[in-house]
This record gives sequence, C-alpha cells and structure tokens, in this order.
Amino acid sequence: MINSIGHFQRLWAKVSHYYSKNYQCLTKNPRLFLMRKIARFESIRNWTSYFHRGAEIFYENYKKNPSIFGDINLETVVVSLTTDSYYLGINLPQAVLQELLDFAMTSTCYGNRDPALAFYYGDKERAEILSGKQFNIGSYLNNTEMSSALKKLESDSGLLAIAAKFLGAAPVHVGSELLWSFPLSATPLDQLKAAQVFHYDLDDYRFIKFFFYLTDVDPSSGPHVCIRGSHRNKKFSHQLLGVRCASKEDKEIVDYYGAENVLTICGPAGFGFVEDASCFHKATPPRDKDRLLLQIEYAINDYGSLRSF
Ligand SMILES: [Fe+2]
Repeated sequence: MINSIGHFQRLWAKVSHYYSKNYQCLTKNPRLFLMRKIARFESIRNWTSYFHRGAEIFYENYKKNPSIFGDINLETVVVSLTTDSYYLGINLPQAVLQELLDFAMTSTCYGNRDPALAFYYGDKERAEILSGKQFNIGSYLNNTEMSSALKKLESDSGLLAIAAKFLGAAPVHVGSELLWSFPLSATPLDQLKAAQVFHYDLDDYRFIKFFFYLTDVDPSSGPHVCIRGSHRNKKFSHQLLGVRCASKEDKEIVDYYGAENVLTICGPAGFGFVEDASCFHKATPPRDKDRLLLQIEYAINDYGSLRSF
C-alpha cells in the first residue's frame, strides 16, 4: 500500500511538472513548442536532415586550425554516434582541465539552478544553512560566459567538426553548463529536474552534446548513464510521449531496450564523451562524492530558451 502511494506521488509529480512546462513553452516560445511536438518522431528528424547544408566549411577549418584534442578521426566518432548513440574518449588536456577547475573554485554557482541561491563551492554548507535549503545540484548558469577556457572549447575546431559531420549542417552553439551534483536523497520532482530519471532530449531536429567530467567519476559518484542505440527504433509509444517518457519507470525503459545496452560511463577528471542525446539517458545522483560536469551543446537551430522549458 505504502509502495503504491509512493509510486502514485512520483508519477503525479512528474506529470504535473511536465504539463506546467509545456504550457509555458506554448505561450512563450511557440517555435520550440512545435519542434518538440514533431521532432519526437524519428522519420521527421531523418526527413528534415535532407534540407541542411554548410557542414563542409567546418571540416576545412579543422584541417587548417588544430584542435586542443589533437587528431580526431571524425568518421570513427560519427559512426559510433550513429550506431551506438555515443563516442567515448574525447579527453581534456590537463591544462584546460585545471583552468576550468580554477574557474569553478573562484566563481559563484547557484543552488538547484535558482539565481537567488548564489554561493562559492567552498561555502556550500554555509549557503545551505543561510537559505534553509539543501542543494542537490549547483549550476554556474550564465557565469560560464566569463570562462576563457570554456570559450575556447566552444569554438574548438575539432568539436565543431564532429558536430558538423554528425548534424550534416553548420552547428550552432546553443548552450553550455558547468554543473555540480551533490550527494543528497532527492524527492521525485528534484530527480526529474536534475534529469536523474531515464528520458531523452528534444532540443532540436538534430543536436549533439559533449560531456566532460571535471572530477573523478566512479559508479558511486554520479556517472552519466545511457542506453546504447536507443536513439533509433524507439517504441512508437515512446516517440508519442516525447519528453514525457521521463514519467515512466526506469525499469520499463530498461526492459524494453535491454539491460545489456545500459552503459554507465565512468572516467577520471578530464574524461570526455559525446552523445546523441535523443537516446535514453540520465544523470545518477552521487552517493558519496560531489561531481563536477561540463556540458557543451550544438544544434541546427537556436530556440533561445531551451533550459526554461
Ligand atoms: Fe537529458
């Protein structure tokens, strides 16, 4: 009985959060709303890709301007993305990692992504006491625009060439986030907001995300988890549901796509990977150590306010 009440509360929290965000999106950003309604269907995403051009200039740029990641086999990366939904091992040079860590230690981040809850990482406990709230995440939000290391990464010739080859179009940088995840027992709504349940993203008809661990990540410190190959041949009801798939139990998603395809991505500080985030994926809550992650996203279109909805 207690279990079924808990299940109902979890489901209700997820569904009500979804409808509230959906209404805001329709009224404030109808172009984004329309894309989210139709891009969930794989056939439409494939069809729209025929209309895009402009990727070639980014391959040329990569040949002329070295990437901080050294030599990248674009073909290997994109084949892996297309078949598996990810490619592992685009790692940050030590100097860039250190620059990003220095930035994280000396800049303010925001508890639970709330602009009213600014704090320095070293002062987290005091900030929680002062605000009377516990933080399960801490994002640097727009403060990342002050990071010169991040600016260089966002315009790196190698990352742009991968994005261009995968998108088949000129990549548009649509956002970056530097984010702490803290060990905390979160409510279902907190878990949904922190993307800690299986879901897939609908950020554009085609889009791609690069992730870099800035702290060591093992199975207990919040690894990213994805389901290999789930960007293709989704169950039709999962296409219909779109981002509402987050309201489904993780077990149901895993049962359909296969436990053998669930990949838990661990790695030392500096480890990077790239993902077609239209596959099912989730963040996991760290159990004992804080995790710092950098995410950089490119797409074909910029809808302006993806994170708000
Ligand atoms: Fe996601």
